[in-house]
This record gives sequence, structure tokens and C-alpha cells, in this order.
Amino acid sequence: MKFFADTADTAEIALLAETGLLDGVTTNPSLIAKSGRNFLEVIREIAALTPGPVSAEVVASDKDGMLREAEVLRKLGDNICVKLPLTLAGLAACKALSDDGVMTNVTLCFSANQALLAAKAGATFISPFVGRLDDIGSDGMILIEDIKMIYDNYAFDTEILVASVRHPIHVLQAAKLGADVATMPPTVIRALASHPLTDKGLAAFDADWAKTGQSIL
Ligand code: E4P
Repeated sequence: MKFFADTADTAEIALLAETGLLDGVTTNPSLIAKSGRNFLEVIREIAALTPGPVSAEVVASDKDGMLREAEVLRKLGDNICVKLPLTLAGLAACKALSDDGVMTNVTLCFSANQALLAAKAGATFISPFVGRLDDIGSDGMILIEDIKMIYDNYAFDTEILVASVRHPIHVLQAAKLGADVATMPPTVIRALASHPLTDKGLAAFDADWAKTGQSIL
């Protein structure tokens, strides 16, 4: 499963990229607003820091406007993935871009039928928002299960990018269901590596090693 960082914080992205575990980045207008930086400048910087796809979202609501914005965004790096909303206009723009071989991420997906449409529009990624479904009392992971079944039924190439991930259990469930990608806030990526028994065990090993008075180097 690929790991994307869901952030526009370039310092965080640089640190995560150093681990070799980062496969891509997703952003959205709210994350850009939170960064307080110029949209095009920050996306260009993220694209240079990131080995894989960097999702940059259009803000127009009509197909032609989205396509015009996509032209600008694509110039920010070879790894730019144009992020489009799951509306009829967004799907039409997705079809046009995917026919041109442009990477696309269809976002704000909350139903399996929406995901079916995105796959038919040739989306590279579909982004179902599991956390926001959980927030309203639905089970976001049931959506991932349904999309996985539908995409397997028809051998769609669209990758399932689990979004709105809030905690490590979401990542575990996504991996068990065979999702292609999980995009996570950096705090969640770090939490995946952490376990209290690892910390406790390491402290004991360090203490015992110090007693030996030896050094490896
Ligand atoms: C995905 O591409 C979105 O940017 C993101 O996962 C939304 O997460 P949120 O529901 O925590 O805002």
C-alpha cells in the first residue's frame, strides 16, 4: 500500500521524504489556507520534494474552468495530479484530462456509485473520505469495501486512495481491505511507527548495553 501525506506543510513533507516511506502528497484548499502560503508556490515546492504524485485541487466549478486551472497546475511539476471534485463537471473534466494522459484524483467521494462514475471517467485515483463518514455516524470503511468489490468486478485501473484518515486503525483497515493508497496527516504516519513496547524494549536494551562498556564503532 502506498503512503501519501495529506498536508501542505513543506517542512513535514521534507522530513517524511527522508524516511523513504513517502509515496506522494495530497493537498486541498483548506490545507493550502492553513499553510498561509501562495498556492502555486507551495505546490511547486511540494512537487520538488516528493517522489510520487502530488494532488493539487482545482477550485473552478465548471468543466472549462477546471481544465484551464489544470493547465496551470500541471506546469508546477511532472508529478502533479489534478484533483477534481466529484460533481458532473468534475467528472467531465476528469474524462477529458485522463483521455489526454493526465493524472487525476477525484475527491470528496462519499458513495460507491460516485466511485463507479469516477472509474468510468478514467480517474487515476478515487478519494473516498472515511473519517467524514464516520463523523456523521456511517462506517467509512464499508465504503472502501464496496468500492474495492466494484473495481475488482470490472477490473478498473482506478486506484482507491483512502482519504480523511484520522488514526492508525483506519490505515490498518484500509490495508486489510487491499486499498491502494492511504493519505494521512503526518501525525498519523508517525503514529504507525510507534508502540509503547518498542520504546520500553529499546530503553532496556540501551541500559543493558551501557553496562557492557562496549561500543560498535
Ligand atoms: C484528501 O485528499 C483530503 O485532503 C483529506 O484527506 C481530507 O481529510 P479531512 O476530512 O480530515 O479534512
